[in-house]
Amino acid sequence: MVTPQGTSVVDIGIVGEKIAAIGPGLDDSPRAKIVDAAGHHVIPGVLDVHVHLELPFCGTVSSDDYRTGTRAGARGGVTTLIDFAIPYANESLSDAADNWMARAEGKSLIDYTFHICITRYNEHRDQIKGMVDRGFTTFKEFMIYESEGWQSDDRALFGTLEKMKEYGTMLLVHAESSRVLDELIERHHTPELMKQHGARLHRMTRPNFIESEAIQRVVTWSEATGGRLYIVHMSTAEGADIVKAAQSRGVPVVAETCAQYLVLDDSVFDREDGHLFACCPQLKKPADSERLWEGLKSGEVSVISTDTCTFTREQKAMWEGDWTKIPMGMPGLETLMPVTYTHGVLKNRLTLEEMVAKLSTNPAKIMGLYPRKGAIEVGADADLAIIHPASTMKVDCETMETNADWSPFNGWDLAGFSRTTLSRGDVIVDNYDVVGKEGRGKWLPRSPAGAQ
Ligand code: URP
Ligand code: ZN
Ligand code: ZN
Repeated sequence: MVTPQGTSVVDIGIVGEKIAAIGPGLDDSPRAKIVDAAGHHVIPGVLDVHVHLELPFCGTVSSDDYRTGTRAGARGGVTTLIDFAIPYANESLSDAADNWMARAEGKSLIDYTFHICITRYNEHRDQIKGMVDRGFTTFKEFMIYESEGWQSDDRALFGTLEKMKEYGTMLLVHAESSRVLDELIERHHTPELMKQHGARLHRMTRPNFIESEAIQRVVTWSEATGGRLYIVHMSTAEGADIVKAAQSRGVPVVAETCAQYLVLDDSVFDREDGHLFACCPQLKKPADSERLWEGLKSGEVSVISTDTCTFTREQKAMWEGDWTKIPMGMPGLETLMPVTYTHGVLKNRLTLEEMVAKLSTNPAKIMGLYPRKGAIEVGADADLAIIHPASTMKVDCETMETNADWSPFNGWDLAGFSRTTLSRGDVIVDNYDVVGKEGRGKWLPRSPAGAQ
């Protein structure tokens, strides 16, 4: 059994949906069903707190729904996911939550909830408290995506952070500097440059300062208001430096990175199929990845998630040579733990206990789900992932659960796939096969987000 506190050889007793006992020599009478985990690591089920399923985005809809997305997650040991409910047109925050509930109900294999996205601050600000009362305690604003109708300005960020302080809730922010990004995109958006550079224009138009300036700015609003802030999908070394400095001043900011920023870099755009890797923010340089690993180790980066937002090859082909039209995002739920285990733990960048903290315990605490989730202790939900310490599988996009017909990690040998996944006591992955029933996952009401 592995938790952030340490590793021990014990039995874990489950009654119904909950962990009921932990210790040596628990009941092995015939009435007990035994899951033999000898020789394996048993960890609390992973929480992927940054997922987009069936998201209308970039002129199409992301290709995994709650059935395929959560099957993919289960195979990677994910037992809880948090998606983003985004209001469209004239919708209220409550409408957005209802829409995302309908997507998940009857389909999800694992437990779920949503961050509520504030896209029109003037209309939405007075609806925040009602959402807190409904059990939604994390909110989200985007500093870019004007054309999607999602962009927040500084006034919205500042005002929402004030409300986060008042309600004890937390604001997640996609931090990129919209106006300078627009300018760089416009300067490069010529037929000649597109012919010459193709998908490489993605990396050429998103230098690190696009992210770091925005992080610095929103950290300033967090410091001024005292509102709790969570930087999503941080991809730059500079971002990690800013967050570390802010935390040392006592600013209530935490940061998440994603598996792809730890193990991939922007040289992928030199590949024939480089456009597949377009995501937002962009993959950066190897030095950024190293700084993010270091930040995980020293603490300024608290969470590893995926930002799963899948598009098939056919959807990605919509770009037709114009990089601004590539649907942005990649699959990740199935490979989050295998990538982190193989490239983090087996390469001695993180201990096993630290991996559990970054994938399970920290996200549960930060998102207000601990100790129901993210813990192996009496009374916690019996959500567990059982992984072999060494045996590897080759990532094969033909046999993956995701609806995406490609993977950024295709052909990689990875350890850390879940041999057995339990969700509230049910075995939903058995011998690496998904056996859980769709629709068994439950919505998780939350209390205001707690400190890590
Ligand atoms: O490329 C990405 N990340 N797509 C999803 C939207 C977002 O910004 O998280
Ligand atoms: Zn984002
Ligand atoms: Zn996202």
